[in-house]
Amino acid sequence: MKTALFAGTFDPITNGHLDIIERACAMFDKVIIAPASSPSKQPRFNLERRVQQIQLVCQHLDNIEVIGFSGLLAQFAADNNVNVLVRGVRTTMDYEYEMQLAQVNRSLNPVLDTILLPASQQQSAISSTIVKEVALHGGDVSKFVHPEIAKALTAKS
Ligand code: COA
Repeated sequence: MKTALFAGTFDPITNGHLDIIERACAMFDKVIIAPASSPSKQPRFNLERRVQQIQLVCQHLDNIEVIGFSGLLAQFAADNNVNVLVRGVRTTMDYEYEMQLAQVNRSLNPVLDTILLPASQQQSAISSTIVKEVALHGGDVSKFVHPEIAKALTAKS
């Protein structure tokens, strides 16, 4: 069974992330979605909440598993016997950064490779930070996130 791992902070999960997840699910037997604790980003939603949000948004997909993690991604992949990371690339800036991440992850775990998927055009301007910023100022985020996530962002704004 071929399994891929899609890690991120997912604070919160956006339609851009979902685009990558759905496409990865069509390519692999199983996709582990792994929200990182990412303490340095001081996430708005705690890890448990982000796991629940991803499970809700991805409930139509039957070949995913959501596992929160802290520590090194390369180690987490090894612990779960996964050797493919999937990442989304929106811009050339993302690409430079993703190259660095892929190389570091591979040097930490030599069997770990990274597949980069170009973000769909309509999703290429989204980031979790931008979505939070729009919600904070009362803007409509319904085009960018699942309705329940939009509600959660509004409730906490
Ligand atoms: N659609 C929409 N948004 C996207 C996206 C896509 N396809 N791809 C990326 N983004 C957004 C993310 O939402 C994130 O937005 P934010 O900064 O506003 O939160 C931003 O682009 C950056 O994404 P990313 O680089 O994936 O950062 P991240 O914080 O989501 O994930 C980890 C980074 C968790 C994968 C990385 O920090 C990690 O591996 N951490 C574990 C520790 C470790 O091993 N460190 C060494 C790695 S070399």
